[in-house]
Amino acid sequence: MVDKPMSIHRTRFPFSITKLLFWSLILLSFIVLFFLGSPPSSASPSHRRRSLRGGDWETSVRESAKSKSLRVLVTGAAGFVGTHVSIALKRRGDGVVGIDNFNRYYEASLKRARSNLLAQHKIFVVEGDINDGSLLKSLFKLGKFTHVMHLAAQAGVRYAMKNPKSYVHSNIAGLVSVLEACKNANPQPAVVWASSSSVYGLNSKVPFSEKDRTDRPASLYAASKKAGEEIAHTYNHIYGLSITGLRFFTVYGPWGRPDMAYFFFTKDILKGKQISVFEGPNGRSVARDFTYIDDIVKGCLGALDTANRSTGSGPAQLRLYNLGNTSPVAVSKLVRILEKLLKVNANKKLLPMPPNGDVFFTHADISLAKKELGYNPTIDLETGLRKFLDWYMDYYSSSSSLPKRA
Ligand SMILES: NC(=O)c1ccc[n+]([C@@H]2O[C@H](COP(=O)([O-])OP(=O)(O)OC[C@H]3O[C@@H](n4cnc5c(N)ncnc54)[C@H](O)[C@@H]3O)[C@@H](O)[C@H]2O)c1
Repeated sequence: MVDKPMSIHRTRFPFSITKLLFWSLILLSFIVLFFLGSPPSSASPSHRRRSLRGGDWETSVRESAKSKSLRVLVTGAAGFVGTHVSIALKRRGDGVVGIDNFNRYYEASLKRARSNLLAQHKIFVVEGDINDGSLLKSLFKLGKFTHVMHLAAQAGVRYAMKNPKSYVHSNIAGLVSVLEACKNANPQPAVVWASSSSVYGLNSKVPFSEKDRTDRPASLYAASKKAGEEIAHTYNHIYGLSITGLRFFTVYGPWGRPDMAYFFFTKDILKGKQISVFEGPNGRSVARDFTYIDDIVKGCLGALDTANRSTGSGPAQLRLYNLGNTSPVAVSKLVRILEKLLKVNANKKLLPMPPNGDVFFTHADISLAKKELGYNPTIDLETGLRKFLDWYMDYYSSSSSLPKRA
């Protein structure tokens, strides 16, 4: 009688351990499978942040969106153009909420610093991916946005040869995700979004006009923007979304992008490193219609202010504009201006342009944007570069790389 329970105990105990081990293993594999199958890393922090922020998060979105005039969701708000547009909107009294996934395409610290600057202007930026449909749904519910300024994208032409999928993720799937959220939102916002001068691809007729063909993209980046323009057409046609596409031409200025030539030339010239200056066939110079950020911001605000409401179904506004400076400058001249302003002779190496998706020449016809958006760029390259260099010296002289002033 005494032995029996003992024997039962002895036989049962190892069995329950095995069972426990078995179920623990099953549970563990579910956890591993869940994490392996979850969306790209850029998408997950938003979920984490959202659940951590809870009620505070919702209050911050409501507060940041508050306005008697425009209530704007800015995607890619911690990006170069997004930061400037968000501040300009907030300054004139519009409500602004940002979303950005802070990806590491270039210095994440620069995006964080821009986001700190936005916080100083009382602009709340949600860390999340535009492919996160449930996050967008909550944002629209809380923010009651009248407008969306969609700037989030995988930018850069050459990087497409390294990471082509990032262009599909952000510029195609991401755009569809944003337009789906807009279509389902109540009220349905008007959408203004960034296309690119790169859609003109291999065209040789200048200046580039909105009426020109755009079916010969030279890079996957250009193709993703062209695809975006076609996707915009379908959402306008089926769901009555008011959509305006802006084809930006080589935007530069303070808080700019480190992957762009004017930025990394500055860095390398100051370090005494050699810079590669590309030239076209037969020594033809490569030129860009460099456009200063403040001019681009004015164009974006002009597009938002003239956007009609979405209609929900039936005919709605569908527009496309070039936003350039309409005065192309050779890259060799850009280098000369930098040398003059930095008072340093650059160590230059002239090379034929490699087949990496870059085009030889861009030049915007801006007559349509002038007429319909009141767009009128005023900053020439030397003036704009001086402003960029002032910011650059200030920003990078601080060891922490954090902005010293708002
Ligand atoms: N700067 C230019 O010269 C130029 C020229 C033509 C077109 N554009 C377009 O203008 C827009 C803004 O460009 P920018 O120069 O400010 O670039 P940027 O890279 O500085 O800004 C884009 C921002 O979007 C964010 N982002 C990217 N994918 C995202 C995603 N899936 N979810 C959430 N956030 C995401 C990035 O983290 C980044 O902060 C882009 O659409 C770009 O393609 C820029």
